[in-house]
Amino acid sequence: MGRLILNNLLEIKDLHKSFSGVNAVDGVTFEVERGKITALIGPNGSGKTTVFNLISGILEADSGEINFETNAITDLPIHERARLGMSRMFQQSRLFLNLTIKDNLLLALDGRNFNLFTRSKATAEQARRIQDILELFELTKKINVQVKALSFGQRRLIEIARAYLLPHKLILLDEPVAGVTPHLRDDITKFLIMLRERGETMLIIEHDMNFVFNLADKVIVMDAGVCIATGKPEDIRNDAKVKEAYLGE
Ligand SMILES: Nc1ncnc2c1ncn2[C@@H]1O[C@H](COP(=O)(O)OP(=O)(O)O)[C@@H](O)[C@H]1O
Ligand SMILES: [Mg+2]
Repeated sequence: MGRLILNNLLEIKDLHKSFSGVNAVDGVTFEVERGKITALIGPNGSGKTTVFNLISGILEADSGEINFETNAITDLPIHERARLGMSRMFQQSRLFLNLTIKDNLLLALDGRNFNLFTRSKATAEQARRIQDILELFELTKKINVQVKALSFGQRRLIEIARAYLLPHKLILLDEPVAGVTPHLRDDITKFLIMLRERGETMLIIEHDMNFVFNLADKVIVMDAGVCIATGKPEDIRNDAKVKEAYLGE
C-alpha cells in the first residue's frame, strides 16, 4: 500500500478564543489544502490575526482542535509547530532596519550564531540559499542594501522571502499587501503565484477583497469571530452576507 498523503495540510476545528469576555474567535472551522492559496478575509477586528496566533502557537486556544498533517498540534509550543513546518510573516514588520537584506535573512536562518556586532559570515550553504531566494524574488541587486533604505512594499516582499527561506510546509502571511503601493502589490501578487506554481501551500490574511479574488483558490470570510462564508472567489464575491459585513465596517 502506498503512503497516505492527506489532501489537507492544516485543519482547524471549532476553535475558540476569548480575551476577557470578548469572543475574538468563536467557533472557527476550515481546511487548508496542499499546494493551494487559501485566503482568510474579513473586516478589521473580525479575528483573523487571532486565528493565525492560534495556528502558529503564539496563543493557546480555549477549545477546539488544530491538526497539521497527521499531527494534533493544539497543545504544542510555538517552536515545535515551527519545526513541523510552519513559517509565518507578521502583520507588523519584524525586520532589522539597520541590517542589510542579506543579514536579515541570515539572522532568520541562523539566529543563534548571528552576532549583531561582528555580523556573522554565512556558510557557503547559507549564502547559496540566500542568493537563490533573492534571485527568485528579483532582489539580487539589493542584497547589501540596509532595510531602512527600502520602501514599505519592498520590506513586505523581504518578509515574504524570509518566510519562504525558512524550512516549511506552510507559509502564513498576515496582510502582505496592506499599505503597499499598487505597483508593488502587483509584484507581490506575481511572486505569490510563482510560489504556488512551485507547489507551496499558503494561508493569507487580507483585508482587501480584490487582492484576494485575483489570487486565492479558496476564501474564508470571518466576521465577529465566526466564519460567515467559505468558497471559491467567484462565489464569495456575490455573497450577500459578505457584502453586508464589509459595508457595515
Ligand atoms: N491580545 C489581545 N488581547 C485582547 N484583545 C485582543 C487581543 N488580540 C485581539 N484582540 C481582540 O480580538 C478581536 C479580533 O482581533 P484580531 O484577531 O486582531 O482581528 P483582525 O486580525 O481580523 O483585525 C478584536 O476585538 C481585538 O481587539
Ligand atoms: Mg489582523
